[in-house]
Amino acid sequence: MGSLPHPDLLLPILILLLSLTPLTSSTPDYDAEELLRSANEDKEWLVSVRRRIHEHPELRFQEHNTSALIRAQLDRLGVPYSFPYAGTGVVAQVGSGEPPVIALRADMDALPLQELVDWEHKSKNDGVMHACGHDAHVAMLLGAAKLLNQRQSKLKGTVRLIFQPAEEGGAGASHMIKDGVLDGVEAIFGMHVNYQVPTGSIESQPGPTQAAVCFFEAKIEGKAGEAAKPHLNVDPLVAASFAILSMQLLTSREDDPLHSQVLSVTYVKGGSSFDETPPFVEFGGTLRSITTEGLHRLQRRVKQVVEGQAAVHQCTAFISMLEEDFPFYPAVVNDAGLHDHVQQVGALLLGRDKVKTGKKIMAGEDFAFYQQLIPGIIFATGIKNESAGPVYPAHSPYFFIDEDVLPIGAALHTAIAELYLNQHSS
Ligand SMILES: *[C@@H]1O[C@H](CO)[C@@H](O)[C@H](O)[C@H]1NC(C)=O
Ligand SMILES: *[C@@H]1O[C@H](CO)[C@@H](O)[C@H](O)[C@H]1NC(C)=O
Ligand SMILES: [Zn+2]
Ligand SMILES: [Zn+2]
Repeated sequence: MGSLPHPDLLLPILILLLSLTPLTSSTPDYDAEELLRSANEDKEWLVSVRRRIHEHPELRFQEHNTSALIRAQLDRLGVPYSFPYAGTGVVAQVGSGEPPVIALRADMDALPLQELVDWEHKSKNDGVMHACGHDAHVAMLLGAAKLLNQRQSKLKGTVRLIFQPAEEGGAGASHMIKDGVLDGVEAIFGMHVNYQVPTGSIESQPGPTQAAVCFFEAKIEGKAGEAAKPHLNVDPLVAASFAILSMQLLTSREDDPLHSQVLSVTYVKGGSSFDETPPFVEFGGTLRSITTEGLHRLQRRVKQVVEGQAAVHQCTAFISMLEEDFPFYPAVVNDAGLHDHVQQVGALLLGRDKVKTGKKIMAGEDFAFYQQLIPGIIFATGIKNESAGPVYPAHSPYFFIDEDVLPIGAALHTAIAELYLNQHSS
């Protein structure tokens, strides 16, 4: 008797112990509150950095001032870095310089959009806006640079902080890789703000998460002539119509219904007269697949169908996947072990109820290039907070973030890195 708990209590106690085990065993004395407190002390600085970048957005591969701002901040913090990578990219490093080496990544480019949010720190560059939150990504990673540097003595390895250009359509990640950014790195973490997730929560998921993406442009040439004498012309409009309809069958008839694909024709241009058939028709759009191989297959079939339909109607087709302007993005596939790690760190820092499993989306993300080479995960950090400001999706000219995310993101980056190294240093 005496010291033993009542039998009715044994099961609940056992369940409680089991539910705590994975976290407590891997994080014996990690002081999450202390980390969050330090991050919150930096909030004013993080907000001012984010607002300065927001006011001066720069398009892909032109992030010169953003890059200079990042380097000036790293100089002030006394964090060493290398420059340039991929033109404007900056790569900082904190820790022993010894393995394990892990990477944290922030993208830093803006979008060709006119900001329509009326606020004090609105974009000062006409037609350019940080509408995807990359300004916040840079601020959060600078915040992590500061925290990791302050806590350097706790670091059991090396953290590389990647400030990357040209996520928006420029495949900046692939250029960073060519310049050696992943040399010696064993795992990479990326964080993206998400307007559907409340501030203070995160979402991540293992496996395929975001689509492989490409864009295409087609031209179907016929022979122009009087509409009243169709037998003397070759009509590219009819050929294009058949081609566009036939393409839709590739997703509905040729792809596994449990696999996700998108084929969207987003424009058609041809002709300008009531009584003449045009010499050619142009159309284009985007192809997406939740797997990289799926997108390669779809590209091959789109080419065959457009060329085939053009030939049936005595026209000639030219089709381009626009690799030069819009490089092919592979699919984002999150590593299952890193997903578990992110969920555990999220629970430790933010609370178990603030960590959810996310949903797949058919938007692209060039983080996928890193994941082709090493295990990686990109996860969502919430910015949804109606009382802090209006909530609009990314790439909207009304996009607005809850700046409370900034210290949270800095702390998350830091804890993810420190705890990974604790668990993987030998
Ligand atoms: C970059 O900074 C320079 C010097 O302050 C300024 O003249 C220029 O307008 C800035 N460019 C952008 C795109 O913000
Ligand atoms: C939402 O924003 C309000 C106003 O800025 C703030 O007081 C509150 O703490 C924020 N909520 C969260 C969850 O961050
Ligand atoms: Zn974007
Ligand atoms: Zn983005």
